Amino acid sequence: MQKGNTQIALILASFIISNIVVLVVSQGQLRVGFYSKTCPNAESIIRKVVQKAVADNPRNAAILLRLHFHDCFVQGCDGSILLRNDEDGELKAQGNLGVVGFDIIDSAKARLENLCPGIVSCADIVSLAARDAVSLVNGPFYDVPTGRRDGRVSKMSLAENLPDVDDSINVLKSKFKEKGLSDKDLVLLSGGAHTIGATACFFMQKRLYNFTPGGGSDPAINPGFLPQLKDKCPFNGDVNVRIPLDWSTQNVFDVKILRNIREGNAVIASDARLYDDRMTRQIVDSYITSSAASFNQDFAEAMVKIGNIGAKTGSEGEIRRACNAVN
Ligand code: HEM
Repeated sequence: MQKGNTQIALILASFIISNIVVLVVSQGQLRVGFYSKTCPNAESIIRKVVQKAVADNPRNAAILLRLHFHDCFVQGCDGSILLRNDEDGELKAQGNLGVVGFDIIDSAKARLENLCPGIVSCADIVSLAARDAVSLVNGPFYDVPTGRRDGRVSKMSLAENLPDVDDSINVLKSKFKEKGLSDKDLVLLSGGAHTIGATACFFMQKRLYNFTPGGGSDPAINPGFLPQLKDKCPFNGDVNVRIPLDWSTQNVFDVKILRNIREGNAVIASDARLYDDRMTRQIVDSYITSSAASFNQDFAEAMVKIGNIGAKTGSEGEIRRACNAVN
């Protein structure tokens, strides 16, 4: 009997160890320079496409950065957000409203398919394009581990749990934690990303006119700033009007947004919430007093972390021929 128990324990132990090994190996398969032999110009081609897109319209930098976040938070960074042929695809979810930039990814993919067919995944293009976009607007340039494969599933229901602009700080923290991201990553990634780009007035309605609790406006908004926001996004006004997320320096990656958050001048509610909580407040404050270089470096590390979420490698998924549809 005892011998039987020992055997079961040994089998269990080897099962656990082999699973740990599989986990470590599959996470470890992303690596910098994955295409250096199979498609050596892949990264430079993507960079050129992004350079042109940002030169044509500086807004494209923010668009590409947001696309990466929305890809990675639903089923991992697997290009599932790019699958746009399904009626109930993930792009149709409320949290994905306003996500665009597909034409830029498609254009990079078309060039890569010409040069090295079937090699470079759409998921990697999204991740590399986000990095290039950030660096083109004064943000850091960092190495992106690659080797992601493309997913085959895109479902609206899977995107229902995306962070919402009106989430409390506890909900935001837990949604990030579920993806293996810390409070520090939350501040770096959402605060850092929202230093560029814009929001539709649609996302400002609750914050300005129907805040919970209490109704009216979010009390965290600086009274000197509130009339400016209301002026741009009036009650019952056009919800498609877009306003900068970083009031002081839109289109430039910098840490001024953290000062805005501290001073009650954050634009969207989820950025303001970063100052509601002792932990995240301390993190915001720490970067206001530290050097821009340290913020940039930590932001870059957090971007690599978000880029690792649920990455499919090895024999999982596929390399799509076109980014908008599975093979
Ligand atoms: C904490 C959770 C987050 C929430 C609730 C949130 C919410 C939003 C909302 C409502 C907008 C405006 C969208 C529009 O009107 O088109 C926006 C824009 C943006 N978000 Fe976030 N976001 C979060 C985190 C992030 C993260 C982690 C990133 C990237 C690392 C990111 C990148 C961006 C960018 C770059 C824009 C500007 C897009 C543009 O100009 O078209 N966000 N976000």
